[in-house]
Amino acid sequence: MNRNTKVIAVATQKGGAGKSTISIHLAVQAMQSRKNTQVVLLDLDPQGSVSDWAKLRDLEDPIVLQAMPGNLTAYLRQAEEDGADYVVIDTPPHAGGTIDVAVRAADLVVVPIRPGPFDINAAAGTVEIMRQAGRPGVFVLSQVAAVGPEGDDTEAVLQELYPEVPVAKARLGQRKAFMQALISGRAITEFDKPSSKAVGEIKALFREVKGSL
Ligand SMILES: Nc1ncnc2c1ncn2[C@@H]1O[C@H](COP(=O)(O)OP(=O)(O)OP(=O)(O)O)[C@@H](O)[C@H]1O
Ligand SMILES: [Mg+2]
Repeated sequence: MNRNTKVIAVATQKGGAGKSTISIHLAVQAMQSRKNTQVVLLDLDPQGSVSDWAKLRDLEDPIVLQAMPGNLTAYLRQAEEDGADYVVIDTPPHAGGTIDVAVRAADLVVVPIRPGPFDINAAAGTVEIMRQAGRPGVFVLSQVAAVGPEGDDTEAVLQELYPEVPVAKARLGQRKAFMQALISGRAITEFDKPSSKAVGEIKALFREVKGSL
C-alpha cells in the first residue's frame, strides 16, 4: 500500500488540446525521473488513444490500463495497494461524468490549452468542475508556435479569466517530434536526443507538476 500515490488527471472538454500526448509524456517522465518509480497510466477515454499507444510499445512500463469512470476508484485503490508512486489519468474531450470523476480523484488537474480563444473558452467547464470539487489545477500551454505572441497572449487571458488556476511556466511547442515518438510507441524522452527542445519541455513540465503536488 502506498498512501503517497499521487494522482494527476489531464482534462479539458476541448478535443485535440493535447491531453493524451501530455498524459503519456508525464507518465513516462515520472517513471524516468527516479529509479524504481512506479507509474500507472489510466485511459479513461473510450477513443483509446493511450491504449493504442501502449499496444505499439514493447515495454512493460508504465502500466497502461483502460478504465471506466465507474471503476476508477477500484483502479486507484489497486494502484495504491501495488505501491504506485503516480497515477496519470487521460480523459475524453466531451463534457459529462467522466471528467468530473477524474477531477474528483486527482491531487492535481493538468488542463492543456492551445493558444487561441477556443481552448480558453472550453476550459471554463473544467475549471468549474475543479472549483466545485475543490481540486487544484494548472494550465499547460500546448502546441505553441515557435514564433509569435500567441503563447504570452493566451497566458494573460487565462490569468485574467481564471485567476485561481496558475499557468505552468513550462510550455509544449508545436513539434512533430512528439507525434513521431508516439507513433513508434515511445515518449519523446525515449526517442529524441537528451538535448532536444522537446525533451527539455517535458522534463520542465514534469518538474513543475511534481512541485505542485
Ligand atoms: N506539442 C505538440 N506538437 C505537435 N503535435 C501535437 C502536440 N500535442 C499534440 N499534438 C498532436 O495533436 C493531435 C491532438 O493531440 P492529442 O491526441 O494529444 O489531444 P487530445 O486532447 O488527447 O485529443 P482528444 O480530445 O481527441 O482526446 C494529435 O495528432 C497529436 O499528435
Ligand atoms: Mg485524447
